[in-house]
Amino acid sequence: AATAPTKPSNIAQNSFVKALAESSTLNSVPSQFSFANDSKASHSDSIPIIDFSLLASGTTDRRAKVLRDLDNACREWGFFVLVNHGIPDSLLKAIIEASLEYFELPEEDKRRYEAKSASDPIKSGSGSVINTANQKINLWRDFVKSYVHPEFHCPDKPHKLRDVLVEFSEKTRSVARKLLQDIGENLGLEKGYMDEVLKLDSCFQLYAANYYPPCPQPDQAIGIPAHTDHGLLTFLIHNGVAGLQIQHNGDWFNTNSPQNSILVNTADHLEIFSNGRYKSVRHRAVVNNKATRISVVMANGAAPDAIVSPAVPLVERDGRAFYRPMKFIEYVETMLSNRFQGKSNLDCLK
Ligand code: SIN
Ligand code: FE2
Repeated sequence: AATAPTKPSNIAQNSFVKALAESSTLNSVPSQFSFANDSKASHSDSIPIIDFSLLASGTTDRRAKVLRDLDNACREWGFFVLVNHGIPDSLLKAIIEASLEYFELPEEDKRRYEAKSASDPIKSGSGSVINTANQKINLWRDFVKSYVHPEFHCPDKPHKLRDVLVEFSEKTRSVARKLLQDIGENLGLEKGYMDEVLKLDSCFQLYAANYYPPCPQPDQAIGIPAHTDHGLLTFLIHNGVAGLQIQHNGDWFNTNSPQNSILVNTADHLEIFSNGRYKSVRHRAVVNNKATRISVVMANGAAPDAIVSPAVPLVERDGRAFYRPMKFIEYVETMLSNRFQGKSNLDCLK
């Protein structure tokens, strides 16, 4: 028999889902989490795979082929699996482990980072969304986020997180930078154009880790509902437990990737910059009743003070700009403060 839902007051005091999920009496999803969830998705083997090593040092022919594949992946899917990226497996494992250790800290250590304002450089909690009936729905996930570039911020604990995060930020930044150069080439832009107008030397990077505990009724809750990301390219790795779904031609697809690969998606600022050639892909995180899922995300953007608008040569080609310009950090912070409340920032700029 189902137990009575946990009272709202308990939830209000308990801002992390982990503790709730671990309470032994929980065999149904408390009503505050109840999310009309049609998370059915078909599995796909056709998600593009991009071999990063061939972009960097393949023969001219092979590089040209991978560049075309990259262009197709950005145009058709907004999503690809990056392999042979050169980031050591040991570092990927270390950042997942350090992130897990963060979530295992006592509640008071995590509560220090409960967000007071959208511009807090470190935030932690579980998050909620407002549904169409104007009800607040809690998400079945805990998170920690911190700005790691151009200024580096990191929770104090666990102690090992700082060094690992510094290295993960450096390595992902350099891979993102190289991919963006190749994307600029695919867009027919002059070498260095993108670096200069988006001020990529001071590019914004946001680290986020998500913890999705097993859920007694996975179809009654959601980890993160459908959304698009701010930034240019989002990188995502995980602990081997599936849960990320992406939308492609109106259908939802489960993603599946080797553990040493990086899932990359094109995000809002690449859609804006490319004047709509590359769409920001909609995606969501679903939960399961068997295993804890952890994902680690690095959002790679433009410089905080860069004004992002469609690239001028593309606007000239298209005859008009399809998006209005906006300062990068302003976009991020408005999005972080009203995210998932039915508003899409991208739509606001059209
Ligand atoms: C996200 O969209 O921010 C995370 C999705 C995931 O955990 O797979
Ligand atoms: Fe996302």
